[in-house]
Amino acid sequence: MEKDSIINTGLRGITVASTKISDVQGKAGKLIYRGYLIQELAQKSSFEEIVYLLLYEHLPSADQLEGLKRELKKARSLPQDVIRALQTCPADAQPMDVLQAAVALMAPHDPDLEDESREATMKMGIRLIARMASLVAAWDRIRNGLEVIAPDQDLDHAANFLYMLSGKHPDRETARFFDTALVLHAEHSFNASTFSARQVASTRAHIYSAIVAALGSLSGPLHGGANVRVMQMLKKIGDPENVSAYVEGILDRGEKIMGLGHAVYKTDDPRALILAPMAKRMGEKAGQTKWYEMARLLEKTGKQAFKQRKGTEIFVNVDFYSAVLYNAMAIPVDLFTPLFALSRIAGWTAHVLEERFAEAAPKPMLYRPESEYIGHYCGPEECSFVPLEQR
Ligand code: COA
Repeated sequence: MEKDSIINTGLRGITVASTKISDVQGKAGKLIYRGYLIQELAQKSSFEEIVYLLLYEHLPSADQLEGLKRELKKARSLPQDVIRALQTCPADAQPMDVLQAAVALMAPHDPDLEDESREATMKMGIRLIARMASLVAAWDRIRNGLEVIAPDQDLDHAANFLYMLSGKHPDRETARFFDTALVLHAEHSFNASTFSARQVASTRAHIYSAIVAALGSLSGPLHGGANVRVMQMLKKIGDPENVSAYVEGILDRGEKIMGLGHAVYKTDDPRALILAPMAKRMGEKAGQTKWYEMARLLEKTGKQAFKQRKGTEIFVNVDFYSAVLYNAMAIPVDLFTPLFALSRIAGWTAHVLEERFAEAAPKPMLYRPESEYIGHYCGPEECSFVPLEQR
């Protein structure tokens, strides 16, 4: 090793860049998109307004919002080649793998791919935001042997996705809840997938490459994959009377209760607090209150048991109640992480733009961390190469 280094696994507490996009205040339980508290945005804005806010750095006027909605609608349809490629995927392929592959396949269809300007990257980002939803809906139709549904241009982004997925127009409340869920998932500072996107963007690779990397990162169970695991866990528990034994078993084995804990929040995730009543109401609408009630019990029991064993507190995160909400909307469980992606694409795009084109100092540069080389198998000195036939 040539120089002294301090290892910080997981980069916890290390500031790697400055950003104007969002702030996560872990102790206070605050999430802020470009200066606005998430509670207010969830109540008063729409996903399209949030896309505008994240990409253009301010809330839109009515005309600006209409302009963005028009652009998003124009970009909704998928290239036929991409639909044909999806039709060749095995029906049991993991939706996040399909999504990742499809985004890579969309790159050559983008007329702005070779253009490295900010404007072109913005246009590509807007196309990706529109098409991520179409891709998720199309894949679910294709794997179930159903026709891909053309977008309904009278519908806004959230309602149109639900329509393209199910072929039915959602009622206003369901569309509104889904829209709010998209608002809540759109951005979350330097989480793992956003960092992946920025890290790839720092190499000056195009935005499609950055988003493919982000999707891979999001798919992991410790990140966006947790919402799928939350629902699987609730189904495995099956009945409220099994909750306590389940929690004790998990903690005995040193495993994690999905949907609890967060790398930054040291209090309940503000998004979970907004999602919980929506999950309750959707469950009532669907005539299926069981999962919400079990989730509540699991949250309470998990928190108590954790505190008893570790002496510290654990809190609920975004994935806990979003899973219950999406399940009550009758969305297939393995699509929950893709739903996260079809919202977070907004934040990823904003971060790619900031990584590539930020003017404020310190300007981003190619990420290149150090590692500590901890030795090789042949002793303290360099190894001497033994030809293959003598090994
Ligand atoms: N269930 C049980 N124990 C948990 C836990 C959970 N959900 N989350 C953390 N812990 C425990 C760890 O095992 C560790 O115990 P130890 O000190 O005895 O080893 C301690 O709490 C600290 O955990 P750590 O993984 O260092 O916390 P973190 O803040 O780095 O991790 C997560 C954050 C998100 C990775 C972690 O809480 C987790 O895996 N949660 C479940 C997955 C999930 O919901 N992910 C979505 C995040 S939005």
